[in-house]
Amino acid sequence: MRKKGGRVISLLCVVALLFGVVGTLAGCSEKDKVVKRSDDTEFVILMLSDTHIENKEGYYKRLFRTMDDLVGMASPDFVIMAGDLTHIDENDVAFQRFAEKMESYRIPWTFTFANHDASGKNWTKEDIADYLESLEYCQFCKGDEDVYGYGNQYFNVTDKNGNVIQTIFTIDTSGPVDGTHHVESSQIDWYRRSVAEIATEVNGDPNKVVPSIMFAHIPMKEYKEAYDTASKNKTIIHGKRREKECPDGTDDELYETICELGSTSAYYCGHEHKNNYAVEWGGIRFSYNETMRHVFYIPSRGGLVINVKSDGKVTQQNIRRSLVSRNYKISEEY
Ligand SMILES: [Fe+2]
Repeated sequence: MRKKGGRVISLLCVVALLFGVVGTLAGCSEKDKVVKRSDDTEFVILMLSDTHIENKEGYYKRLFRTMDDLVGMASPDFVIMAGDLTHIDENDVAFQRFAEKMESYRIPWTFTFANHDASGKNWTKEDIADYLESLEYCQFCKGDEDVYGYGNQYFNVTDKNGNVIQTIFTIDTSGPVDGTHHVESSQIDWYRRSVAEIATEVNGDPNKVVPSIMFAHIPMKEYKEAYDTASKNKTIIHGKRREKECPDGTDDELYETICELGSTSAYYCGHEHKNNYAVEWGGIRFSYNETMRHVFYIPSRGGLVINVKSDGKVTQQNIRRSLVSRNYKISEEY
């Protein structure tokens, strides 16, 4: 497995090792303590986001206990932390403590920047990116200098025979310092090039695209229309809108490009802490993650399990618990 110097990382080679390593249940209830991996599930991604770490020892304790629970239940092959890890001035401390926890699981993981991560005093966005690149299990790379942002990357998932069955894209939707940011034309061009590059490598033809899914912090502006349409037609797949969607104010061409290329079937984001819905619109699945913010006014916390099947198809499952209970609810695959 290559850590640096390339944007394609085959993850299969570490799967066998990891099944033996991750398994602590850390006090979960007997009920719903394991996400059962179906026979046709080849690869499991655990998505976390919006931990919003505060400068309090008790916060770390509560957060790390939930992380132990989720990693123990999901036994993921890859973890994606989709941003807003913290908002405090001591963001250097928050990133180091979170990353030390993640590294202790000995599972490949990565990170996407969000609107708050570099709003603190101590570390800039580049400091954070440099630190993440220095870690052993973290797969984060700053990426091409001529592409806006850091951590615009892709990861190819292979089956037991080494065939690429799915690609995971991560994309930077944060501002140069903080705040939200639209997906710039340099990122769109990079995405377009990458889809063609993967298709050429895997299928010998830039137009024979490989299926992919995309992770970012900020929702696309199309989320609102997607949910409104699904709500009207009573076709909501999962979850609820509990607060309005807040995409970046500048329109971009990401959704249009996704539709045009025909590779990416799903987009996963965080940002709105109370939303956890999934809807399909225009052939794309729009999903919100469960939040990991551990404060009293957020009624639940959890994550999303994304199952990549042996035929390349993708399902997902929500894991969440209430503010006061550690009895997790694991949804059916959908
Ligand atoms: Fe956010």
